[in-house]
Amino acid sequence: MGKYIIAGNWKMNKLPSETYDYVKAVAAATAGSNCEVVCCTPYVCLANAVEAAKGTHVKIGAENLHFEDKGAFTGEVSADMLKDIGVDYVIIGHSERREYNNETDETVNLKTKKALEKGLIPIVCVGESLEQREAGITMDLIAIQIKKAFAGISAEDAKKVVIAYEPIWAIGTGKTATAEQAEEVCGGIRKIIGELYCPKCAEDFTIQYGGSMNDQNAAELLAKPNIDGGLIGGASLVADKFAAITKAC
Ligand code: PGA
Repeated sequence: MGKYIIAGNWKMNKLPSETYDYVKAVAAATAGSNCEVVCCTPYVCLANAVEAAKGTHVKIGAENLHFEDKGAFTGEVSADMLKDIGVDYVIIGHSERREYNNETDETVNLKTKKALEKGLIPIVCVGESLEQREAGITMDLIAIQIKKAFAGISAEDAKKVVIAYEPIWAIGTGKTATAEQAEEVCGGIRKIIGELYCPKCAEDFTIQYGGSMNDQNAAELLAKPNIDGGLIGGASLVADKFAAITKAC
């Protein structure tokens, strides 16, 4: 299956002045781990994060980008700007952005295409709410999110995309999906990708689980055949806890 990628999503946490030392601490604590280690930070922390990651195995990601190249978009940040300072990854369509910042399946698609065009690796987030899960429409919803996110993207480009399955009810709640629930949806996502492209190419995709993943539950989740990594919020803010997750790969 895909390459293991453990990505921290700092969200709106940590200061630019704390970033350099923290990324250095992550690099030291995750040395020798058997996966790609990524820190996705607020825009204002990125330059310090890139500086700290230089010469280490740690990669740096942003938490969002705009889908236009440039222009009159006050407050926005483009893919070229991220590339210019040495960013490698970008989270797209996180459920918090879908909920609070008008992110839609259409903007997720535009942003994913722009990231690929500019050589950034998109981490595309999908996931259902508790109501949707209880209504039994989880896979239908995820299929729509995936199909819309990948609309117009070639198989060659699609393989560069990391998919993060993040059930909304598990994010920041301490309520992790069971390994079986997470595996069921991640396996379903691989099947959808197989239908969109080809079953063989679906094997190359990295599909992460996210939602209260931590040093206690990571090993069980990552042992599942269709879970190739994690997108980690709260537990990415303490270097040793984050490192323990990378060691579980
Ligand atoms: P959490 O966040 O690990 O704090 O649940 C995950 C995420 O939102 O990416």
